[in-house]
Amino acid sequence: MSVKKKVKIHSFKKEIWRYYKMYGREMPWRHNPDPYAVLISEIMLQQTQVDRVRPKWEAFLKQFPDFSALAQASSADVIRAWQGLGYNRRALGLKRLAEIVVLDHQGKLPSDSVVLETLPGIGPATAGSLAAFAFNLPAPFIETNIRRVYIYFFFPRAKKVKDSDILKLVGETIDKKNPREWFYALMDHGAFLAKKVPNPNRKSKTYTKQSPFVGSRRQIRGALLRALSLSPMLSLEELSRATDFPVDTIAEVSRLLEKEGFLKEMPEGYTLV
Ligand code: ADE
Repeated sequence: MSVKKKVKIHSFKKEIWRYYKMYGREMPWRHNPDPYAVLISEIMLQQTQVDRVRPKWEAFLKQFPDFSALAQASSADVIRAWQGLGYNRRALGLKRLAEIVVLDHQGKLPSDSVVLETLPGIGPATAGSLAAFAFNLPAPFIETNIRRVYIYFFFPRAKKVKDSDILKLVGETIDKKNPREWFYALMDHGAFLAKKVPNPNRKSKTYTKQSPFVGSRRQIRGALLRALSLSPMLSLEELSRATDFPVDTIAEVSRLLEKEGFLKEMPEGYTLV
């Protein structure tokens, strides 16, 4: 590594730690090292803002305190507890994950990010964040705040930045002694930059604006699963009335959800699996 790069990395780390010591954010899951509690927070935080997650995380843990409680819960109860977080499929994925942990991993969350990635709802970013936050392991990963930080500091003039280039830098800058806090610090800095500068992630090759179509499809799925969490069985017509979406749209989305194993079609209508 060139001297210039070493100096840059040194000042980058210093700046990230300086910011964290002054302005690091307080979050309840950062005080609770139980891997189950960390997992619930990470899944909730995948697409929901920190302040909306806080009360939900606490209530969810009260209702489902461990993997075994979640594995035994009904899908309807889990979706109801998820109310207000959006993306109901995450809740069902989480319940499936709990079942797998109980059956295949002696009720303990695996710590290896390669194994974590085999579990439902866990992609590379969540696997990395779990390795760091639940187990304090130094596995490099990227998510939106981290990407923003590296693009801002290391690629200020680039147009298209590859995730593989960012990931390499994450590995070169990681704090091996304290990966847990290092990744908190990176995320906090990324959240700060999000408010301070025009989104540097525009310059990421992976960046795409979410299309309105994707949004609406997601909204239909959410509405459908919510309706079924409130009634044990609904026909297509009843689902259409409950969700306010046309019957043919509901039929199409139900078929998809059935293929993915979230719903079952019975003679009288659809029900949650
Ligand atoms: N702290 C711990 N996990 C986090 C996350 N996913 N996003 C922001 N801050 C966090």
